[in-house]
Amino acid sequence: MKKGSYYVTTPIYYPSAKLHIGHTYTTVAADVLARFKRFTGYDVKFLTGTDEHGEKIQKAAETRGMKPKEYVDEIVDGIKDVWKRMDISYDKFIRTTDEDHVKAVQKIFQKLYDQGDIYKSEYEGWYCTPCESFWTASQLKEGNLCPDCNRPAHITKEEAYFFKLSKYQDRLIKYFEENPEICYPESRKNEMLNNFLKPGLEDLCVSRTTFDWGIPVPFDPKHVIYVWFDAVCNYITALGYGTDNLEEYNKFWPANVHIVGKEIVRFHTIIWPAILMALDIPLPKMVYGHGWIMFGDDKMSKSKGNIVYPDPIIQRYGIDALKYFLLREFAFGQDGHYTNRVFISRFNSDLSNDLGNLVSRTVAMVEQYNDGMLPEPGIGGEFDADLKEIVISAADKVEKAIDKLQFHEGLEEIWKVIRRVNKYIDETTPWILAKDENNKDRLNTVLYNLVDSIRVISILIKPFMENTTEKIWEQIGLTNGENTNWESASIFGKIPAGTKVKKGELLFPRLDVEKEIKEFEKINEEYFYTINPPEEPAEPVVEITPKPEITIDEFDKLELRVAEVIKAEKHPKADRLLVLQLKVGTETRQVVSGIAEYYKPEKLVGKTVILVANLKPVKLRGVESQGMILAASNDDKLVLVGLDGKMPTGTLIS
Ligand code: ME8
Ligand code: MG
Repeated sequence: MKKGSYYVTTPIYYPSAKLHIGHTYTTVAADVLARFKRFTGYDVKFLTGTDEHGEKIQKAAETRGMKPKEYVDEIVDGIKDVWKRMDISYDKFIRTTDEDHVKAVQKIFQKLYDQGDIYKSEYEGWYCTPCESFWTASQLKEGNLCPDCNRPAHITKEEAYFFKLSKYQDRLIKYFEENPEICYPESRKNEMLNNFLKPGLEDLCVSRTTFDWGIPVPFDPKHVIYVWFDAVCNYITALGYGTDNLEEYNKFWPANVHIVGKEIVRFHTIIWPAILMALDIPLPKMVYGHGWIMFGDDKMSKSKGNIVYPDPIIQRYGIDALKYFLLREFAFGQDGHYTNRVFISRFNSDLSNDLGNLVSRTVAMVEQYNDGMLPEPGIGGEFDADLKEIVISAADKVEKAIDKLQFHEGLEEIWKVIRRVNKYIDETTPWILAKDENNKDRLNTVLYNLVDSIRVISILIKPFMENTTEKIWEQIGLTNGENTNWESASIFGKIPAGTKVKKGELLFPRLDVEKEIKEFEKINEEYFYTINPPEEPAEPVVEITPKPEITIDEFDKLELRVAEVIKAEKHPKADRLLVLQLKVGTETRQVVSGIAEYYKPEKLVGKTVILVANLKPVKLRGVESQGMILAASNDDKLVLVGLDGKMPTGTLIS
């Protein structure tokens, strides 16, 4: 029996670079929530996708000499591949270049224009292209830095359409007060209220004319719709809003939760709700702004080379280890720091020691003491009641934690069970019971209780790490059915006696921490550089004022000759000049040259240079110069001209 519908979304990511574990984090959280809701009987819609328009994408495509659509197609394929490798169970992947989306956004824009919520004016102000955000001067940091990403914003001035955001300010404040779930966690709600809503909302610029990669404003196509206006609408266009088929929209809207990173909470709790209010549509039930995964003190950044990608992790340790780590290590809502050491330590302590060992020890004991057949439980004993109580009360706690998106708490509840069961082994000492035939009955009970506890654990972890659940089921002889559904996690004794138990591969083989860190760091680094090959700095464009044309005869008037520096000294009176003695065939020439800033005298001796030999001699600060030597130079650099091979000094150059 279905409990109802459940709609969960991730942000739609910019396909401007390969996604890293920050994006993986959000998507894994949404995936676990979706799996959990399906498992517990809901009809789930899990949406993710890509946000493909805007100046940032257009520029990224241009620097690669590609058309924007061609460029995003390639990246989007890559993103879908990662989600496939990660076994992400999304139901729909929306692209903002999808025709249905484009048309629906145009309809929305038109409707708001027709009803007076969008009007034409002029925008003059600050814009941050990486964030695709407008800012007022007072919101910027240190004069020109974007308060979200700290990168420089720039001034833009253009004719533009505006959305009457200010009109919705009071309604939004009231909504925030009456519906606290519109912005979780609490701290972010207060930030939105105090930093944006209460100081006063300004109308939002919702079109651009300085580039064209976007959805055209239907009634004024030299404007494209602001990418954030376009993007937030995905949450309803993905359900068919704006088309004739509203079945899914009617079933799933309003969304149960939009999961987003904290830096885009403003777009989801102010701008998006105001658009929905203007459309007269209900608001999402919850927007959850989680924290950032940081590296050292930084958010991940390509230029700092501190990005970690999911692929090397899942190839080496498996999907489940990554999912477990992301949701267990970081308290959802707060920032956290990623290091390979923390990852590897958690792998060892929680996965290898606690869970992996419990399964392998238990299965080994059933094989050894009862020929691999699960015995009928016999005599009860000390510790049994406590064990059972803890095992069957976990499901409820896990459900409560996941409903609040406190995944780390949910996992901690499960691990309390795992540790309790491990302790039960130490308390009941089956290896001692096995020594005495008289204790066989008690031993059977202990083995049965252990295996049934593992059954419950395998159910509890299923939304988080389904591969591991399946591996456990193989070992304890379970298949999908009434002994493995969510409800059965609250009942003890569901696994039938007589079940065949069989040791399999270790779930999480223990790692040698120090060795592993070194190796994994190397793997990550290599991967980083294959994804982000160091870019050759672009050659600067040299601009000169052209000189009048000359004839070959005029050029022929120059006597250019090969010369070698045989002596070089500082000019006695001028810091910028050197006095050079040059060997030119059988002659010696003295030349004063303005190269002291770029060449040390002793480094010049022996160098081949090109002499303009028939230049009229002059005195430079009292020292005679009989010609000049050729050099390439600009404002900050000077390089002497030489020869591509050896030629005798005195040779003519033509
Ligand atoms: O903002 N830690 O897309 P985006 C945690 N297209 N989460 C992180 C993270 C990190 N270090 N880095 C990224 C956009 N994320 C818009 C969204 S929605 C209508 C439009 C996650 O590609 C986090 O969820 O910049 C963050 O909000 C999102 O990726 C930003 O992805
Ligand atoms: Mg971003």
